[in-house]
Amino acid sequence: MSVPFFNLSRQYALLAGELEPAIKESAASCAYIGGKYVAAFEKEISEYLGVRHAVGVGNGTDALMLALRACNVRAGDEVITTPFSFFATAEAIAAIGATPVFVDVLEDDFNMDPALVEAAITPRTKAVLPVHIFGQPADLEAIAQTARKHGLKVIDDAAQAIGAAIGGKRVGGFADATTWSFYPTKNLGACGDAGMVTTNDDGVATVLRALREHGAAKNGAIARELLDGITEDGLQDAPADALYNPFKYFNYIIGYNSRLDGIQAAALSVKLRHLDAFNAKREEISEFYTGALKGVDGLIAPPRSTPAKHSCWHQYAIRVDDKKGMVAYLGEQGIGAGEFYPVPLHLQKAFAGLGYREGSLPVAEKLCGQTVCLPIFPELSQEELEAVTIAVKSFL
Ligand SMILES: Cc1ncc(COP(=O)(O)O)c(C=O)c1O
Repeated sequence: MSVPFFNLSRQYALLAGELEPAIKESAASCAYIGGKYVAAFEKEISEYLGVRHAVGVGNGTDALMLALRACNVRAGDEVITTPFSFFATAEAIAAIGATPVFVDVLEDDFNMDPALVEAAITPRTKAVLPVHIFGQPADLEAIAQTARKHGLKVIDDAAQAIGAAIGGKRVGGFADATTWSFYPTKNLGACGDAGMVTTNDDGVATVLRALREHGAAKNGAIARELLDGITEDGLQDAPADALYNPFKYFNYIIGYNSRLDGIQAAALSVKLRHLDAFNAKREEISEFYTGALKGVDGLIAPPRSTPAKHSCWHQYAIRVDDKKGMVAYLGEQGIGAGEFYPVPLHLQKAFAGLGYREGSLPVAEKLCGQTVCLPIFPELSQEELEAVTIAVKSFL
């Protein structure tokens, strides 16, 4: 039996009866960018996560850049982050002119080792950027404690972690800003690119709203005051009934065009209603894998969810010595597997200029050589799950 690593069509077929009318309605409303569907989805997400502000943006990479800028990280600053993530995490830091400073990860959960943060702080450090990799929460409490002691901001990359929880509270409101990706393969996936930043800080939220729209209008002027301390007199809101915003063409800071589409927001609102059920199914799959693979020699399973750290199981990552051999064998058996991540970020060629070498961050390097992600998505059948575990066991 062949088992796909991921399959988007199954979920689309399941939800087509709800998705298609919602997409059609938003298209017919012509609220294409911003507008009522985006406002509704932002409100739903802020309620779901229990956070004051949710600001829809173009994608998860922009979410990171905007969050860093909204926390006043600037060119020349340093941001401490993890080498075990998707490239965008560190790319966003570099893209705003700052420097990623990598600290090694913990072997058991692949996340930033909080004990290493303090030693990486320099006078140029402005923020710490952990990632909840594979949906498993990072140790935000310990990281935030160190950051607060040194006056640093914390931005968490939760692109893979919607629905994950720390001590029973969903990730999304713990840090100065939390960034999200709704890339189609995420636990909550759009029908295209989409992203978000959540925050409990009113000022950060206003700067984010300014940055996503070219630093324009009243939000732009407030953002300049918050970031640069320059006050603008006579600020006015656009009239509520205006057909267009007369202040739109007045720009106060350099921003971006990074807005959420109405059609994506409408689709995401539909999917959000199913997210908890889908995440529960992922949890069941993880429990099945962990049970079926228990005691198998030569394999380390990921940590199970606990009330203190509840994963949303974006990936189920096992560790084996012969990663390449296992991925090739699974492929021959028709079983899809993910090699996340083949190269730690500090050894990516794009970051060659930062001066890291092989051996600089040994745990991340070791994990990159060992990690195989097994298929995990809510629509997998029991037969498919069994086929995966049989193939894994027969290889080992
Ligand atoms: C950890 C992480 N950060 C950032 C991103 C970037 O998100 P996007 O693809 O929406 O730009 C992704 C996923 O793609 C991710 O997995």
